[in-house]
Amino acid sequence: MLRVDFVSLFPELILPALGHSILLRAKEAGQVAFRCANPRDFAEDAHRTVDHPPFGGGAGMVLMAPLVAKAVRSLDPVDGAAVILTDPSGERFCQRHARELASRPQVVFLCGHYGGVDDRVRQRYATQVFSIGDFVLTGGELPALVMADAVVRLIPGVLGDPESLVNEAHTEGLLGYPQFTKPRGFEGASVPDVLLSGDHGAIARWRRRQALLATRRLRPDLFATAPLTRNDLKLLDEPILDVSPEAEDTD
Ligand SMILES: C[S@@+](CC[C@H](N)C(=O)[O-])C[C@H]1O[C@@H](n2cnc3c(N)ncnc32)[C@H](O)[C@@H]1O
Repeated sequence: MLRVDFVSLFPELILPALGHSILLRAKEAGQVAFRCANPRDFAEDAHRTVDHPPFGGGAGMVLMAPLVAKAVRSLDPVDGAAVILTDPSGERFCQRHARELASRPQVVFLCGHYGGVDDRVRQRYATQVFSIGDFVLTGGELPALVMADAVVRLIPGVLGDPESLVNEAHTEGLLGYPQFTKPRGFEGASVPDVLLSGDHGAIARWRRRQALLATRRLRPDLFATAPLTRNDLKLLDEPILDVSPEAEDTD
């Protein structure tokens, strides 16, 4: 069982988001356990103060290290636990990190707020610092939830069909391929013929080619390092009809 914990001033933002769908089923099946620790619960003054203006001046309030540290310690990080500080200046979180975290016994997410967290928390407690993108949010709760979701669905057994993980985006360094389902005709747009052909080899080749083309077009950075096979290079050269002609709306 993976323990996924959060240090946050706003546990009410976090726990409800984990109580639905696949994450709820994983929790009920004992594959994951979620907990929150609130630094404010460790504040000792009458106002339960958790932040203070930054030394050296400037805008924003900074979360005080001793309270965040007490909240982390209350979660009893075990040997091998990852302690992740959410920070827009961190390393960009990706599927490779999600896979690595899913193999840990415990992951603790530290959610900053306001002007961020006293840097001594990073120095003394964080094993990794992750950003979810080059933009700034008001707090680390949404980034922590995004990362937790990406991690939990990789715990073996959490997704009913493990095949789901095989061909999806970012598993092999490529983007995903487009999916279609009923009805066959929708607002004049049809489904690529190959998907209705029953020819599983042709379908697999079509999907792989779509993933390769999308990655080359939309994410040349990923394409440059994707581990392409000889077959992939052949597929990219093949003149395959990718789009079917217009169809009438039908089931
Ligand atoms: C308003 S931000 C703090 C920004 C900080 N003053 C700075 O200049 O980097 C408050 C908190 O939101 C979280 N946060 C904001 N954007 C994030 C991002 N892109 N990725 C991860 N965490 C983020 C972090 O926990 C951060 O401490």
